[in-house]
Amino acid sequence: MEFESALQFLDNKSILVTGATGFLAKIFAEKILRVQPNVKKLYLLLRAADHKSAIQRLHHEIIGKDLFKVLKEKCGKNFISFISEKITLIPGDISQEDLGVKDSNLVEEMWKEVDVVVNLAATTNFDERYDVALGLNTLGAKYVANFANKCVKLKVLLHVSTAYVSGERSGLILENSYRMGETLNGVSGLDINIEKKVIEEKLNELRLQGASEKETTQAMKDLGIARARFYGWPNTYVFTKAMGEMLVGVFKENMPAVIIRPTIITSTYKEPFPGWTEGVRTIDSLLVGYAKGKLTIFLADLESVVDLIPADMVVNAMIVAMIAHASHQPSEAIYQVGSSMRNPMKYRNLHDFGFRYFSKKPLINKDGKPVIVGKLRVMDSMASFHRYMALRYLLLLKGLELANTAFCQFFQGVYSDLNRKISFVMRLADIYKPYLFFDAIFDDINTEKLRMAARSSLVESDMFYLDPKCIDWEDYFMNIHIPGIVKYIFK
Ligand SMILES: NC(=O)c1ccc[n+]([C@@H]2O[C@H](COP(=O)([O-])OP(=O)(O)OC[C@H]3O[C@@H](n4cnc5c(N)ncnc54)[C@H](OP(=O)(O)O)[C@@H]3O)[C@@H](O)[C@H]2O)c1
Repeated sequence: MEFESALQFLDNKSILVTGATGFLAKIFAEKILRVQPNVKKLYLLLRAADHKSAIQRLHHEIIGKDLFKVLKEKCGKNFISFISEKITLIPGDISQEDLGVKDSNLVEEMWKEVDVVVNLAATTNFDERYDVALGLNTLGAKYVANFANKCVKLKVLLHVSTAYVSGERSGLILENSYRMGETLNGVSGLDINIEKKVIEEKLNELRLQGASEKETTQAMKDLGIARARFYGWPNTYVFTKAMGEMLVGVFKENMPAVIIRPTIITSTYKEPFPGWTEGVRTIDSLLVGYAKGKLTIFLADLESVVDLIPADMVVNAMIVAMIAHASHQPSEAIYQVGSSMRNPMKYRNLHDFGFRYFSKKPLINKDGKPVIVGKLRVMDSMASFHRYMALRYLLLLKGLELANTAFCQFFQGVYSDLNRKISFVMRLADIYKPYLFFDAIFDDINTEKLRMAARSSLVESDMFYLDPKCIDWEDYFMNIHIPGIVKYIFK
């Protein structure tokens, strides 16, 4: 792998980015616009009924975010004209042929102009409806590859997947591709067309039964989990992402294609400024629940590695990989982008950083009082968690019985509410279990080769830093990531 200049590569290029309102896509777009203002065009595909609502989404959910403040300062009064010149909004939906773009002129323009396609659109909900997740994470990947195939100037297709397509395997997880129909447990017969039929049949059955929207949603969620587990994956999200990778492998045909598999993405490490984040994501939900005093137990193996990677490093890896593979030669490369191989952090550290930060700087609640946090009770196995929940359930039940024997109806209501809450918590714990007790390391030999090549021959290697070894986790959590959560999530 030999590089010259990333900025030269980006000069006068047109890039189609799907999922443009998403966390990672925004960081990607901001970086390109900030470091290479001579990029020709960013076609940002986002869901919108029409152009007017696409513009509203651009202003509210993309350029209106603090993330763009550095670029705004850099452009000064020319910011809006710069954005109008460089960004073309594409209302669309990747779960449809031709990405659901209705304006045929725009479609023709993209087929003529686009050099790079970056697919970031996805549902990242572990417990998504199966029809939604299959349509987006699996078939969407195929529609994006088909679209890229029609772009006459295309140099590379970049598909963003997740490292957790590996399921619950332990040990060293290699950067291997999935063959069509491959499963994690060896069960044969995985066929994406059959999965589509299974969904159609279930939806028909629900229609005939007169199921409500709520019942249909629950049935579709259950179906996703059941199909995922039948083939060895722990949840609908990673199962449908794995099938998406399989389709990219087939439908990329002769294009150069890159699959990026990030681990758990956290706030920016350095650019455009440290600590930018958005939405309550995976491990952040633990920190948020803890800071608010709502989390009283910590369900995880403290010695397990929690594989985190700051978002700006993921974006830099995407850009460097894109340049490394841009050619007209058919190829497929997989890059796992995480930290467990080079600079592992453990759940023990996460627990410790959370306690130290919020006991020193507690959140202030609605009444203006600090939320006092203490050390959490650690449950280091699912068995101890189940025992704990069973005990809490019995105690609550006993309390309710004593208080409500005279109010039978009221008791019934509270009882079913309690049951619902308990089963919700159990379902969540069950879905997150593979990550809280994760026993694997993501190999990143391909990504390491990319880093080495960038270090030795990329002119702007400092600008496209992607080495997790430089992260001091304590400093990152105490001074960047948790303050970022407090600023951007609690506000
Ligand atoms: N965040 C992580 O920790 C993480 C870790 C590993 C891998 N990844 C992968 O990285 C990628 C980006 O993740 P993210 O965290 O940035 O996700 P995100 O914030 O949830 O963004 C997903 C984007 O996809 C869009 N989208 C949903 N359905 C669509 C459709 N039918 N057509 C077009 N766009 C659609 C969403 O648009 P709306 O705003 O309209 O909903 C949203 O902009 C995903 O592929 C994900 O699997 C993420």
